[in-house]
Amino acid sequence: MSPFLLTRTLPLDATDAALRTDVLSGLTRSPKTLPPKWFYDARGSELFEEITRVPEYYPTRAEREILEARAEEIAAASGARTVIELGSGSSEKTRHLLDALPGLHSYVPVDVSESALTGAAEALLAERPELSVHALIADFTGGLALPGTPGPRLVAFLGGTIGNLLPEERAAFLQSVRSLLTPGDTLLLGTDLVKDEETLVAAYDDATGVTAEFNKNVLNVVNRELAADFPLDAFDHVAVWDPENRWIEMRLRARRALSVKIRELDLAVLFEAGEELRTEVSAKFRKEDVRDELAAAGLRLAQWWTDSAGRFALSLATAV
Ligand SMILES: C[S@@+](CC[C@H](N)C(=O)[O-])C[C@H]1O[C@@H](n2cnc3c(N)ncnc32)[C@H](O)[C@@H]1O
Repeated sequence: MSPFLLTRTLPLDATDAALRTDVLSGLTRSPKTLPPKWFYDARGSELFEEITRVPEYYPTRAEREILEARAEEIAAASGARTVIELGSGSSEKTRHLLDALPGLHSYVPVDVSESALTGAAEALLAERPELSVHALIADFTGGLALPGTPGPRLVAFLGGTIGNLLPEERAAFLQSVRSLLTPGDTLLLGTDLVKDEETLVAAYDDATGVTAEFNKNVLNVVNRELAADFPLDAFDHVAVWDPENRWIEMRLRARRALSVKIRELDLAVLFEAGEELRTEVSAKFRKEDVRDELAAAGLRLAQWWTDSAGRFALSLATAV
């Protein structure tokens, strides 16, 4: 098995500084918020993988169905020699795509979770020892410094993760992806689709409570990294559908009034009984939303595939 290259594009203390900034600004505003990227320490990445296996969480199964059915078409349309995957996690579904690309030279998974990247690269290289894997620990919303690998390149952004960005963040993100593409490169984008509220809420509030544990993990991260004393059992996991914004919101609701100390920030944060902290939005799309948001960033929707039940879509886009 060939070794893989793991590059940290952010200095270690930049992650620390980013967490401090996000926690300070997010917990001193009303309503309180935290960005979802802080779910994903090693435990958070494990919990996300568990979520993908609960019966209520259909997006992973639906996207895998599309990838299984369409990998050859995607491979033929992109002709990629390099696959760059943003927010790659376990890279489990991506295998279908990598296997379908006959001329594949390099795979560049990009994630904030070092444990997810290491696990994915090791599993992948055990099966494909000839593949060049250059893993990047990086924030995909920052400017990405990509390694010089052969084109054409396919940038994959799967799992519906784009829905975790707010509309203005999505616009900036898609523009930054557009700036990475040179002629012949393509973007493969996974988006969860608007559907009935019951199905959506259940997907983010499973009966076994794995999503609740995942949601509360962000408090563990803040407790550990910033010496805070969030009592996890004082918060309830909440998932609600916002039909106006067409997104699911995950929140943590304080069961009682409490004061949380964040020693590293020299900060006390007060929660009223019933007060909610927003930890994630997960936007759901219609085809026209995807087409228009791509177009606004200078990208053209070239192909659109859904799973057989029409729950999830994969789009292939090119630079205009
Ligand atoms: C919803 S999971 C999807 C994982 C995988 N792509 C899939 O489809 O199963 C989101 C992934 O993106 C990563 N992530 C979240 N925010 C990120 C950011 N700002 N920069 C880089 N990675 C991020 C997480 O660590 C996690 O692996």
